[in-house]
Amino acid sequence: MGGKGCPEQYFREKLEELLHSSHHAVAFTGAGVSQESGIPTFRGKGGLWDRYPPFLYANLPMLALLFLIRPSRVAVFASDVLASLLEAAPNPCHKVLADWERLGILRGVITQNVDDLHEMAGSRNICELHGNVYRVRCVRCGGKEKLSRHLLWETWERLRGVRPGRRELLRVLSSYASRCPYCGGRRRPDVVFFGEGLPAEEWNKALGLASESDILLVVGTSALVYPAAMIPRLARESGARIVEINPEPTSVTPLAELRVPYPAGRFFSLFEPRVS
Ligand code: OAD
Repeated sequence: MGGKGCPEQYFREKLEELLHSSHHAVAFTGAGVSQESGIPTFRGKGGLWDRYPPFLYANLPMLALLFLIRPSRVAVFASDVLASLLEAAPNPCHKVLADWERLGILRGVITQNVDDLHEMAGSRNICELHGNVYRVRCVRCGGKEKLSRHLLWETWERLRGVRPGRRELLRVLSSYASRCPYCGGRRRPDVVFFGEGLPAEEWNKALGLASESDILLVVGTSALVYPAAMIPRLARESGARIVEINPEPTSVTPLAELRVPYPAGRFFSLFEPRVS
C-alpha cells in the first residue's frame, strides 16, 4: 500500500487529525463498503439493480407476483444474491471500524447494509436501517431470530438444486423462514423492501447517534435512498463535520469537509496494524 508522501497518506493524516479532536465519531455506511468483499453495489455499472430491476425484485408484492408467474426467476435472483453474501468476509474497512469502536474512537456504525459484515468484523453498536439477511421476523408477533450462516448455505445449495416449480421453491424458502416457534405465525426475511417502513427502534437509535456525532464518516453510499439518506444532512445540521470516503462524488459531497476519493477497503487498510 502507498508509501510515505503518497496521496493516500495525506488523506490518512487528515482523517487522523480530525478523529484526534473528536469525542463522538460515527460511521454511516452503504453497499460500497462491502464492494471489495465481493458483494456488488446496487446502482451504477454492474450493480445489482442493473441485472434485477428494483421495481420487480426490491418490492415484496411484485416479487410475490413474480414467484407465481416465473418462480425460476425468483430462484435465480435469490441464489445469486445469497452466493455473493455467503462468500463475503469483512474487509479492512469493516475491521478498522470495529477496532475503532473497541478503542473508543468510534461510537457506532449506522448501516444500510444487510450483509452482517460489520458484526462479523466485531462492531457491536450497529444500527441496521435496512435489516439483516441472516435474520427472520415473524409477521404476527414480531419475534426475531438470527440464522446461522450454515442454514443460509444449505438454502443456497438447495436453491441451486431445485428445478424450480412453485412448490419446490416454496419448500426451500420455508426451510429458511420456518414457522415462528412462539406463535406459529409466518416468518419472512428481516430486511426492508421498497415501500416498507424502517424498523422504528433502529431508526430512533440512528437519529440519536447521528445528531450527537461530531464527526460522521460517510462511507460507500450514494445517499439516494430515503429516509436513510437524511442521516448525513441531519448530522451536519447538528454540527457534525462530514468526511466522505467514496471513489465517486455523491449528494453528500457538498456537505463534506474532507472527501477521500478511494475505495474504502484500500483506504482503511492504511490504518490496519502492520505485522513486521
Ligand atoms: P448504492 O449502490 O446506491 O451506492 C454505492 C456507493 O458506493 C456509490 O456511491 C459508489 O460510488 C460507492 N462505492 C463503490 N465501490 C466502493 C468502494 N470500494 N469503496 C467505497 N465506496 C464505493 O448503495 P447504497 O447507497 O448502499 O436499500 O444504497 C442504499 C440502498 O439502496 C440500499 O440499502 C438498498 C438499495 O435499494 C434497500 O434495499 C431498501
